[in-house]
Amino acid sequence: MMSHQNGRRLAHWAPALTLAVLVLMAAACSPDKYPQTTLIPRADYAREADTIFRTTLLWATVVFVLVEGALLLALFKFRNRPGAADPLQSHGNVTLEIVWTIIPAFILAMIAVPTVKTIFKTATKPGPDALQVEVIGHQWWWEFRYPQLGITTASELKVPSGRTVNLEMTTNDVVHSFWLPQFAGKRDVFPNRYNNLWFKAEVEGNFPAQCVEFCGIQHGRMAYRIVSLKPEEFDAWAANFNQPPHDFSSDSSAIPLVKEGQGYFTSKGCVGCHSMYPALPLIGPNLHHVGSRSYIAAGTLTNTDENLAKWIQHPQAWKQGVLMPELGLKDDEVHALVAYLRANQ
Ligand code: CUA
Repeated sequence: MMSHQNGRRLAHWAPALTLAVLVLMAAACSPDKYPQTTLIPRADYAREADTIFRTTLLWATVVFVLVEGALLLALFKFRNRPGAADPLQSHGNVTLEIVWTIIPAFILAMIAVPTVKTIFKTATKPGPDALQVEVIGHQWWWEFRYPQLGITTASELKVPSGRTVNLEMTTNDVVHSFWLPQFAGKRDVFPNRYNNLWFKAEVEGNFPAQCVEFCGIQHGRMAYRIVSLKPEEFDAWAANFNQPPHDFSSDSSAIPLVKEGQGYFTSKGCVGCHSMYPALPLIGPNLHHVGSRSYIAAGTLTNTDENLAKWIQHPQAWKQGVLMPELGLKDDEVHALVAYLRANQ
């Protein structure tokens, strides 16, 4: 039988043990399994928001432990027993009323002050040294333009680590919401209006992102990537991207299938919507260097020959309602187009 002293010792450590178990459970949530977590900040903005979350959680835990502790104590220590006298009545006790008004007001202040400060801080605009990116929402993909670099691209936001990036964001059609889970918060985008969002990536890597405002039937497949590169890798990417598209038709070393694909890209009408030039935006996603992207179909299919073929042949099967039409292409035409697009590295 547990001694009275042991019981008291256990009761003493119970809150700390509970907290330790909860922390271990939270630590077991692998970021690989849940890549759209906000609990692993990888940029200054996300870190600010995470600090607010942790501050709030800390105060909520203190409140929970104290209130639940007092409740349990009351349940067991002061429970009604046969023949017990009425408990002491505390209604109208001025001191108690003052104390339980001041304590919540203090806790709310401890949460509200840093929250409001962070809201004001994250609503500012960074200085001219920031890398400027125009973000434009479309049903159902995101366009990224770098005015300082003369680059237009889609679905993969490339940024240099260690440098503040300022996103000036709008939409070409309906309201969308831009979100970089591990890097920054969410911002809705509205037609003919610009909202901004800034962050400085602290790590390199390729991370998922997702539109977070219902924007039509394929809202769930309006995904994208944020690719953070070392500054020198970013500069190399930008310099390479700025080259005009490679003309395979006049390249004697190009394989015939790729040349054939380039021909179909024009003759089958792909060029009507998709630009192959670094700074030319058209109605559909810019496909310059599409071969080097990790995903296609707005971040929803990995960029493999098989997925690209499936996507080109039956876009409506994967994304019903998408503007990309079913062109009725033959298998060998699709095969050649895949070869051409994949060759655009
Ligand atoms: Cu765009 Cu939801």
